[in-house]
Amino acid sequence: MIALRGSHMSMNEKVALITGASSGIGRATAKAFAVQGASVILAARRQDELDSLVAEIEVGGGKATAIKTDVSKAQDAEQMVAHAIATFGRLDYAVNNAGIEGQIANIVDLEEDDWDRVLDINLKGNYLCLRYEARAMLEGGRGGAIVNIGSVNSFLGFGGGAAYVASKHGQVGLTTSASAELAPHGIRVNIVCPGFVDTPMHHRIRGIIGDEIFDQGMVPQVHVRRVGKPEEIASAILYLCSDEAAFITGTTLTPDGGFTMTV
Ligand SMILES: NC(=O)c1ccc[n+]([C@@H]2O[C@H](COP(=O)([O-])OP(=O)(O)OC[C@H]3O[C@@H](n4cnc5c(N)ncnc54)[C@H](O)[C@@H]3O)[C@@H](O)[C@H]2O)c1
Repeated sequence: MIALRGSHMSMNEKVALITGASSGIGRATAKAFAVQGASVILAARRQDELDSLVAEIEVGGGKATAIKTDVSKAQDAEQMVAHAIATFGRLDYAVNNAGIEGQIANIVDLEEDDWDRVLDINLKGNYLCLRYEARAMLEGGRGGAIVNIGSVNSFLGFGGGAAYVASKHGQVGLTTSASAELAPHGIRVNIVCPGFVDTPMHHRIRGIIGDEIFDQGMVPQVHVRRVGKPEEIASAILYLCSDEAAFITGTTLTPDGGFTMTV
């Protein structure tokens, strides 16, 4: 059960939509918004996982609803936002977190279908969700905050990761452009670019790279010498949505334990 308590960041009366809420960073972020008093809309592909999180939040005294969504489909993205407005009457915060790592393959071997799938979900999906979220916020006339979830691969490439890296770089351009368009309407748009975070995606990647190579080759490059927790990324997201970040838009926040700060 989640103990729900308000704090200086209290988001009572506010409504937050989180894509990819069924696991990892999205799940932790949904819980964090609920703890701050926000009503949450959970969107992802797995209905069972979403339903169990709705139940968990409601048992803790929060308000939540779920909608099965494939963010790469315009109709799903539109319905997701319509469901948020129909259920809670407004939209204040949106976190575009849904993403996949795709196949690890060198460009010479990367299949066109794999490229399309990663770009469709990670980049086109971000654009589609953002479009409908922004429309709803503009119609609401109360402003809002949108946080896209990139990666340290929004700045760093890696061999075998071209599609993922290209999609994550693209999200930075989407964020800065959307920020320029929406800031005059009181809607801030930022991007959070995590380093290694302990989620199901992280464990799938570890399974490919191997624990030993990961622990001995990668983790020592992280200044704090460990992988992050999903809750630590959720904190960064909540901060950017909060009024504490009222002057922050179009920018990148990189919770990565220092990974990208040295060579
Ligand atoms: N875990 C890390 O180390 C790490 C590091 C940097 C960035 N990220 C990014 O953080 C985000 C979340 O990753 P995670 O580690 O929590 O992964 P995860 O695999 O645990 O969760 C991904 C979520 O996205 C959802 N999703 C995938 N495709 C979708 C689609 N088409 N429509 C709707 N939902 C979809 C999944 O259902 C799941 O809820 C991703 O954008 C990822 O690229 C993760």
